[in-house]
Amino acid sequence: MRTIAVVNQKGGVGKTTSVVNIGAGLTRLGYSVLLIDLDPQSHLTLSLSVEPDETRATMFDVLSDSAKLHQAIVDVEGMHLVPASLDLAQVDAVFSATSNWEFLLADALVDLPPVDFLLFDCPPNLGLLTVMSLCAAREVFIPLQPEFLALHGLGKLAETVGAVKQRLNPPLEITGIIATRYQKRKKLNREVIVKIREYFGDILFTTKIRDNIAVAEAPSFGQDIFRYSPHSNGALDYINLCREIAAQSGRNDMSAP
Ligand SMILES: Nc1ncnc2c1ncn2[C@@H]1O[C@H](COP(=O)(O)OP(=O)(O)OP(=O)(O)O)[C@@H](O)[C@H]1O
Ligand SMILES: [Mg+2]
Repeated sequence: MRTIAVVNQKGGVGKTTSVVNIGAGLTRLGYSVLLIDLDPQSHLTLSLSVEPDETRATMFDVLSDSAKLHQAIVDVEGMHLVPASLDLAQVDAVFSATSNWEFLLADALVDLPPVDFLLFDCPPNLGLLTVMSLCAAREVFIPLQPEFLALHGLGKLAETVGAVKQRLNPPLEITGIIATRYQKRKKLNREVIVKIREYFGDILFTTKIRDNIAVAEAPSFGQDIFRYSPHSNGALDYINLCREIAAQSGRNDMSAP
């Protein structure tokens, strides 16, 4: 199983969009996938048309030990999802005084059904939920929009990942940088890609996710890009990205179906 936290404290860079469509793409390639929504905004949950309601167990219930992970799983679009709710906004206040809060998520995963890929959609900050995801994952993917200031704040993110790796979770590695909303005709986009490659080397995925209206529209229909617009550039880019991700599994001797 590969456990991947999709992280960037910068907002609106394509974390949630990538989690949905990588999950859906890997599912189409024959892998089993569980998505965990760790953002109080619940965009991942809402993008898949799952309404957080009073009766449904959510990630907050799992973290507060009032539900087991398997009780909170919803099946949607051929994938499994643990939904979020606005309750997650209380996590910092509720758990920061709990000893070993860093491992609340990792501990909850003991109840996990066997899957090939587990993806965490993180909120746009480096608060408790993001740190918990870094303690539960072995890999980090960072989506970046190749615009002015794309690399701003990455030092802080790399520092956080490094600190978690050193103190709490030694196997953790940044294994993928995803360029999102790429516009080839924009000189600035091309220049920033060169800078990202200088900074990160070959962990920048070769596939760039182009700016594509269908990618932005799909969530409002509760669909992933493959169902909403299977012939779009967005579908093509995300399936190519998924092939690269699956190929990493071979390279790192990680499980393949
Ligand atoms: N390839 C794309 N083409 C066009 N629009 C895109 C693309 N990727 C993402 N978007 C749009 O950009 C916006 C931000 O994307 P998304 O919500 O995935 O980012 P995020 O990093 O999860 O944001 P947040 O930090 O708020 O959680 C959304 O409106 C989304 O539809
Ligand atoms: Mg998001």
